[in-house]
Amino acid sequence: MITLMPPGVEVAEAHGDLPGARLLGAEAEAVMRSPAARRLEFATVRHCARTALGRLGVPPVPIPRGAAGAPQWPTGVVGSMTHCPGYRAAVAARAGTYLSLGIDAELHRPLPEGSLRLIASAAERRHLAELGGRDPGVHWDALLFAVKESVYKAWYPLGGTVLGFADAEVAFDPGAGAFRAVLPDHAPMAFEGRWRVVDGMVRVATVVPFLSQ
Ligand SMILES: CC(C)(COP(=O)(O)OP(=O)(O)OC[C@H]1O[C@@H](n2cnc3c(N)ncnc32)[C@H](O)[C@@H]1OP(=O)(O)O)[C@@H](O)C(=O)NCCC(=O)NCCS
Repeated sequence: MITLMPPGVEVAEAHGDLPGARLLGAEAEAVMRSPAARRLEFATVRHCARTALGRLGVPPVPIPRGAAGAPQWPTGVVGSMTHCPGYRAAVAARAGTYLSLGIDAELHRPLPEGSLRLIASAAERRHLAELGGRDPGVHWDALLFAVKESVYKAWYPLGGTVLGFADAEVAFDPGAGAFRAVLPDHAPMAFEGRWRVVDGMVRVATVVPFLSQ
């Protein structure tokens, strides 16, 4: 995630779970009945989050699950978390620096048969077909999925509504490793971000600046 982030965003990553990672305060409630592997994933990504917060000068605090699963960052901070097999990451920034952040990591492999039409409009499917012709080494369907997840994570703290995959229309700029998403029925601004394929994963970051930036 580090290379995807602009100045002012702190990143912490773990390549696997950290058995010593602890849950703080109300965090435990969310995973009380979850399998041990989920508890460890939840604790590890929060360890990453607290590391990123520490780099901003914020002391360790609980980051419980809020409405619709969104993490409750401390006042004055925006952030996002993701986990995918063998990888956990968190990003955080001062709320005065960016309006919202969203990150996602997915395995770099084709989506299951028949899934693309569930997450992509006809226009997006044409766009992906064209990109696939130009750069067949990228699983553009997995990338589109990750972009929509990351846009959703950046959107939710701002809009507070759950989005369907049809709510976002995404266009890639493959040369720049960048994308732009619009949410025509929800948000006045576009959501922009960057992506990379690294270590068998697609990693995506959406960064929402203040409108005046
Ligand atoms: C919530 C969701 C985005 C998580 O993505 P995922 O790829 O399954 O899982 P990831 O590991 O990357 O991310 C999970 C983390 O996302 C964060 N998250 C969950 N819900 C969130 C929300 N509403 N807003 C912001 N962040 C959220 C949490 O930190 C969570 O980790 P945690 O439970 O350990 O705290 C996904 O499960 C989902 O519900 N998607 C449907 C909605 C959607 O994406 N629509 C696309 C519209 S454009």
